[in-house]
Amino acid sequence: MSPERCLIGGDFDLSFEELDFHRTPKKLFFHEDGTWTLSGRAALVLVLEYLKAQGVRHVHLPAYLCQSLLLAVQAAGFHYSFYPVGGNLCAYPDPPPGSAVLVIHYFGWLNAATTALRQESRRSLSLIEDASQSMLSDWHTSSEIPRFVILSPRKFGPLPFGGWCNLVAETSKPLHETEGLWWRSIAARLTKSIYLAQPHASINPLIETFYLAAFEAVEAYLDNHPADSGIPQMIHDMMTGLDWVEIGRRRRSNWRILKVLLEDKIEMIYSDLPNDVVPLGFVIRLANRDMVRCRLAEQRIFCPVHWQLPSDISPKSFPEAAKLSKTILTLPIDQRYDEHDMARIADTLIKIVQYGN
Ligand SMILES: Cc1ncc(COP(=O)(O)O)c(C=O)c1O
Repeated sequence: MSPERCLIGGDFDLSFEELDFHRTPKKLFFHEDGTWTLSGRAALVLVLEYLKAQGVRHVHLPAYLCQSLLLAVQAAGFHYSFYPVGGNLCAYPDPPPGSAVLVIHYFGWLNAATTALRQESRRSLSLIEDASQSMLSDWHTSSEIPRFVILSPRKFGPLPFGGWCNLVAETSKPLHETEGLWWRSIAARLTKSIYLAQPHASINPLIETFYLAAFEAVEAYLDNHPADSGIPQMIHDMMTGLDWVEIGRRRRSNWRILKVLLEDKIEMIYSDLPNDVVPLGFVIRLANRDMVRCRLAEQRIFCPVHWQLPSDISPKSFPEAAKLSKTILTLPIDQRYDEHDMARIADTLIKIVQYGN
């Protein structure tokens, strides 16, 4: 029996040690010049605005993507079309001439279509690589390759805001509203951390509602202001002060543990972990994904769904993307967890899959 309050997954909590603004900035794995923004979607808007000034008006998008990217494309006033993504998450674009193509490096792995797309880049298309889920994967890519890159460090640590693109661009002035949301989110994360430090105490719905509401307020703000790029300095300081090397190490270690525990029992999307990959999560495929996800949540193991497809994407036209969206589940393997947590995830999941509970 796990202690009552104990939970796995959900938004990152934050300890007082992590809130030390005076740490020396650690090396971020990405080594090109660029611009920090409020979010990954704002980074995409900056890239699209740059391309618009060069005469590009159309962006070709993967049919397997999250709604927030579409919000950015719409905010930038671009026309868009979708291309198929295979069951192995490889991109199959067929872009109109002169358009931009966005390719996502899903879950930490380099998209298999990348080499061919990089060769085409700037000859017949403008390539945008979305490495939001792969920020810590270290591909030693030459900055000579003509392509744009966007990141969203928020996916990998206790940061309410943060995005980046490899374009030197002007950002908007940080707003009071984002500073207010930042402090509210920091209060929520500290509260969550103190709350979870007493795993044997009973569940307190008031506290859980407090921190969940603060996390939702940030997401709602970003959905309503996808182009808002100004990032308050303190967010930047916190982002560069996190120990990204240790974060990458823990994620790889947890991934390997889970792989051994789930091997031959659960279908995995990726079964190998190359040396240069830092995974976002452990991605599995389940025919009855929604039922399993509910049962895991009842055991306080919370797994995100990547993604409910935007309504513009017709399942008839993109059956593989629709299938991915209905069957994929991402198990948490991040830096908060260790081998005991991985064992808890694996035991609970296997029981649910084998016996339905
Ligand atoms: C692949 C991918 N790219 C970009 C984004 C946008 O990042 P942000 O939420 O920081 O705007 C997301 C958001 O979920 C994403 O999943």
